[in-house]
Amino acid sequence: MQRVAVVTGASSGIGSALCERLLQEDASLHLCLACRNMEKANATRKMLLSSFPHADVSIVQVDVGSVESVLNAAKEIKKRFQHVDYLFLNAGIMVNPRISFSAFIQGLFSRRAFQMLTTAEGLMSQGDRVTPDGLQAVFETNLFGHFILIRQLESLLCSLERHSQLIWTSSISARRSNFSLENYQHIHGKEAYSSSKYATDLTSVALNNHFNNQGLYSSVVCPGVVMTNLTYEILPSFIWHLFFPLMWLIRLFTHTYTLTPYNGAEAHVWLTKQKPETLDPLSKYHSCSTFFGKNYVDIRKLDISQDLAEKFYQKLLELEKEVLARCSSSKHKQ
Ligand SMILES: NC(=O)c1ccc[n+]([C@@H]2O[C@H](COP(=O)([O-])OP(=O)(O)OC[C@H]3O[C@@H](n4cnc5c(N)ncnc54)[C@H](OP(=O)(O)O)[C@@H]3O)[C@@H](O)[C@H]2O)c1
Repeated sequence: MQRVAVVTGASSGIGSALCERLLQEDASLHLCLACRNMEKANATRKMLLSSFPHADVSIVQVDVGSVESVLNAAKEIKKRFQHVDYLFLNAGIMVNPRISFSAFIQGLFSRRAFQMLTTAEGLMSQGDRVTPDGLQAVFETNLFGHFILIRQLESLLCSLERHSQLIWTSSISARRSNFSLENYQHIHGKEAYSSSKYATDLTSVALNNHFNNQGLYSSVVCPGVVMTNLTYEILPSFIWHLFFPLMWLIRLFTHTYTLTPYNGAEAHVWLTKQKPETLDPLSKYHSCSTFFGKNYVDIRKLDISQDLAEKFYQKLLELEKEVLARCSSSKHKQ
């Protein structure tokens, strides 16, 4: 039976490299690129077909920062497929990320230098904005739009005969100290990205509690530090390239500088080869690259309590109800 993989944010960076790697593993897979920009999606499809001319690659348009768009995409996916084996929740944003050079210089000569260089902790400032749904953009794009997509696709994902996997692209910067239940959209605060990625980890844990008995399994991946459009928004690419020798050197001490999207997708691909019921729902799967460029997966414990995961899940369900009601009443008015 042909397996089906849906990848959000497949039009560039880690998502695009992941698609290529999935086809390398199984050229008979049906790959559905879930992208907001059709031009970029078509270019990615063309690139994939040039290497895998017989592959089944389709596109569905989705803006995960808009609930209406997610609902339309879910409808379309349900029309096309009976079952989804892998749903990669990969699309993500940072809004106006900026490096603080004074924090960088101070950090270099402090005891937290290693922590700063491996996680970028304390180095960046970011913004956020409000979407037409009235939600914080980073929260909606990185987490909530994906959550709605999963909920809408439940009938295609839940089967005891044919298990499915949700694989989230989280981050090493997901930190408990940047998340609070009272401010889960991070309306107040300057760490919207970290908060949204911690919320992702919480959601994955809760989804396992609620859906494992229906054959659906969720895991979180940390791709490491990867050169993509997202990192080029923090610093222009030529500056990153100037830092390349330093980043290679850092690989002597930590293997989280995966650098290329291909390497960053290591843990995603590894997860698809595991029996999902054997995976630990409280672990995070880190893509790693050694100094000599060998890729491997490092499994680390999540800093998460089941109680917080469940409380947050209930908040997501309440918000889902509210937003879907708003969507259907505005549809009736039209
Ligand atoms: N790069 C890193 O070092 C790093 C580290 C940790 C985690 N991550 C995570 O890895 C994931 C992929 O990012 P990347 O590094 O590969 O960056 P990227 O090249 O900028 O890819 C992000 C992808 O998300 C898509 N996207 C953004 N907003 C969207 C929306 N509203 N609806 C649908 N798609 C949307 C983008 O589409 P467009 O092409 O239309 O913009 C793009 O395809 C993200 O979740 C990011 O947080 C990256």
